[in-house]
Amino acid sequence: MHWDHYWDLTKALSSFGDSNSPLGYPEEVLIFWESVVKDKKENKSYLDLGTGKGALALWIQSILTRNNIKGKVSGCDLANIKKAKIISSADEINEAINKVEFKFNTPLELLPYPSNSFDLLVSQFGFEYSKWSESLPEAMRVLKDNGEIILMMHHPDSVITNDCRGGKKILSWFLTEKIFDDLATIISLKLSGEDLSFNKRNKQIIQKIQSLEVHNDGEQVWFMDIMSQISKLMISLTKESVIALIELKNAVNKQIDRLDDQLSVAFEEQEIKNKIQATQIKSKGIKTERFYVDKALFSWKVTINK
Ligand SMILES: C[S@@+](CC[C@H](N)C(=O)[O-])C[C@H]1O[C@@H](n2cnc3c(N)ncnc32)[C@H](O)[C@@H]1O
Repeated sequence: MHWDHYWDLTKALSSFGDSNSPLGYPEEVLIFWESVVKDKKENKSYLDLGTGKGALALWIQSILTRNNIKGKVSGCDLANIKKAKIISSADEINEAINKVEFKFNTPLELLPYPSNSFDLLVSQFGFEYSKWSESLPEAMRVLKDNGEIILMMHHPDSVITNDCRGGKKILSWFLTEKIFDDLATIISLKLSGEDLSFNKRNKQIIQKIQSLEVHNDGEQVWFMDIMSQISKLMISLTKESVIALIELKNAVNKQIDRLDDQLSVAFEEQEIKNKIQATQIKSKGIKTERFYVDKALFSWKVTINK
């Protein structure tokens, strides 16, 4: 699964790996979850669905510890993540890593917890990836009576989804135009001393890359990122560069799979309502709201009460 690959490579604790904070989440998201935990008070049990490397679970545990609130935090995810690979440079987060109970290789469609185990189920861009017809009844089963589910889910018009579209466009272009294969071919030309052919083909590839239309700042960032990785490989041309190019092409393929996956789970409001209704769960209330970060649309916030 591409998530196994992603979590194996990234040192970040969340899929927002680019941000500067230890957990990678924007400030508003941290503040939101902090307010949820402070509202719930003592002796509550939390389960983070699709926890990845645990950023949300670790944040909840940190809030409990900081505020001296008793509580138990668990997190589960389908990916094959090694607990030893969950490491932070922040002491508070490291302390939390030892307290949270993680279960990996664990599908949300078959939760390994007894019924009525948790007061609150949470998710930050995790739940929507599962098969709702099975995972939502499971979530309701492990939730205590009067418990709550709060799901932050991808929105089709959010900044993140738009960024994914840009990334998909740029990376797919490099694959469909066979840029990696062309570069591997010209490295072979150089290595076999065919300098004239190398120069000619090299020029053609540069012209081709220059023809790619980059429409906005987001696409520009994706373009610069892939170009900087390619440029590093092309500094000294050796047999190893060809292997590195093939590895980069494979990594780009996996990244596109991840972007596709993310785009496929950004549902419209009516789709969310229909998907929940189709599960026939019994709830006391369901609410879908938009969540904004810095006045920009960031996600859905879906609340379900048992
Ligand atoms: C976008 S990541 C979010 C991870 C984490 N919540 C975060 O904030 O970084 C989505 C996660 O959902 C997990 N996932 C996808 N389908 C799943 C399923 N059916 N059951 C459990 N986890 C799943 C993936 O392995 C991945 O770690």
